[in-house]
Amino acid sequence: MFEITPVNADFVAEIAGVDLSSPPSVELSRNLRDTLDQYAVLVIPNQPLNEAQQLKVAEVFGPLEISVGASVYNAKRPRRLEHAQLSDISNLDESGKLLEAGDIRRLINLSNQLWHTDSSFKKTPAYASLLSAQEVTPVGGATEFADMRAAWDALDGATQESLEERVAVHDYFYSRSLTGFDLDGIPPEWREMQPPVPQVLVRSHAHSGRRSLYLASHIRSIRGMDEEAGRALVDRLMQHATQSRFIYRHRWRVGDLVIWDNRSTMHRGTTFDEKYRRAMRRATVQDVGPTVVEAASL
Ligand SMILES: [Fe+2]
Repeated sequence: MFEITPVNADFVAEIAGVDLSSPPSVELSRNLRDTLDQYAVLVIPNQPLNEAQQLKVAEVFGPLEISVGASVYNAKRPRRLEHAQLSDISNLDESGKLLEAGDIRRLINLSNQLWHTDSSFKKTPAYASLLSAQEVTPVGGATEFADMRAAWDALDGATQESLEERVAVHDYFYSRSLTGFDLDGIPPEWREMQPPVPQVLVRSHAHSGRRSLYLASHIRSIRGMDEEAGRALVDRLMQHATQSRFIYRHRWRVGDLVIWDNRSTMHRGTTFDEKYRRAMRRATVQDVGPTVVEAASL
């Protein structure tokens, strides 16, 4: 077993005394999953993993996603990373040089600075994400995490009850539009690859049983509410859930591996000077299935 240093009572733990460069044993795998269930974010320093090693750690948590960047924008262009299961969270092009100022990938990256939970715009969203840092900026570029279980717990009973059955519509292109992406300029085939999907607004954790708000900037509307009322509700909940008391801010060091549970947290990148190189890669583990099981149209 490894050493666990909680950052808060039950949110974010730093892990020491573990080497993830060789495939995790059955026992280590179980301990990692249990610790993630409890703390929702695990910070594991000094893990300079290569792509294959990172994928092995990710598989501890379940089947992996294929990166959206690989499937939507970069289907026909070479990628910096070898494996399609890894998302390129960097400001580098395929040859490892800083992206040009007008490169569309810079605009796409900007959306990472909006509060979100990974892949909630997919029918089956993400369970765990594993982000590995290869190059970090000397200042800025921290990642913030919000504890959505604590945010749920802090709501009054009447508000909780009013949210229980709500279903939100998540749309990948909606969040992109918020950071200046021209939706009219998107080829129809991109939209067809990522249609809007329904997700519950309140989740129950499969293992701990804890409830959590399931929010993201991908939410375009709330079913059964008109656009304005739905928007107002989402804005209010976002404001509530991102108060500083629910937030952990991670300042990256080279070799950090941070694992988070997307069912219990939101996260966002923060700004940094684009003259600095920043290179990270993310493996994303699928959830067990859709949060809304139905065939209704949106
Ligand atoms: Fe993300």
